[in-house]
Amino acid sequence: MAWPGASRHERSVDPERLSVARAHNYFLGGSFNTPVDRAFAEHVLEILPASKTMALDNRNFLSRAIAYLIENGVRQFIDIGSGIPTAGKVHHIARALSPDVTVVYADNDPVAVAQSKLLLRDDPATVAIDADLRHSADILDNATVRGHHDFSQPIGLLMIAVLHFIPDHDDPAAYRDALPPASYIALSHLIDETAHPTSTARSAAASTPTRAAPARWSPEPAAPSPTG
Ligand SMILES: C[S@@+](CC[C@H](N)C(=O)[O-])C[C@H]1O[C@@H](n2cnc3c(N)ncnc32)[C@H](O)[C@@H]1O
Repeated sequence: MAWPGASRHERSVDPERLSVARAHNYFLGGSFNTPVDRAFAEHVLEILPASKTMALDNRNFLSRAIAYLIENGVRQFIDIGSGIPTAGKVHHIARALSPDVTVVYADNDPVAVAQSKLLLRDDPATVAIDADLRHSADILDNATVRGHHDFSQPIGLLMIAVLHFIPDHDDPAAYRDALPPASYIALSHLIDETAHPTSTARSAAASTPTRAAPARWSPEPAAPSPTG
């Protein structure tokens, strides 16, 4: 099975293997997913029926975060764990507010990266890279990223619904330290609000030692925190 217009490299992406990015696309009502992704997503929905609602709430949070960052002078974005760039992606939302926005999309899922490159190939103000959040230098020192963004100007770093895929010991604080002054980090993080309050608080404190409390899947998130 191949996506329409896919190159030979892109066709090598295995549709029989589960892709978190494609399963997430299914939750968002997208069509870039395969039977194996849909079966997994349906299984998740049996355990957590609110998964689709959470994905959409999360997308709404992304819109509000981008608007806040643009209002505060950000014109460059790095979206880590970007997924498949279907409707409502960062450059769509941001350009409606400011046409001069540039975006780097980063993901470690080959499907998400291949699909991003395909969809963004005619858009010089956006770029997609294959990179793992856990290796910050692979993103922050990446020649493509450095060529695309001006690191003397503020950057909006987006980590939307991705941090819960990495363990606490892969502390992503390096990103905060590397961003230019007046940059922002906006993140959302899945948490279990039914868990025992003490263990939830301990878990949140351990995973966010120097950041504000993690954003929750709620309609009115706290404003993203400035980094400099
Ligand atoms: C739940 S989806 C969220 C997608 C997008 N941020 C959104 O809100 O629509 C999580 C994404 O994070 C990516 N991801 C998971 N672990 C990652 C890692 N270590 N580095 C980069 N991306 C990762 C997955 O491939 C997937 O595309």
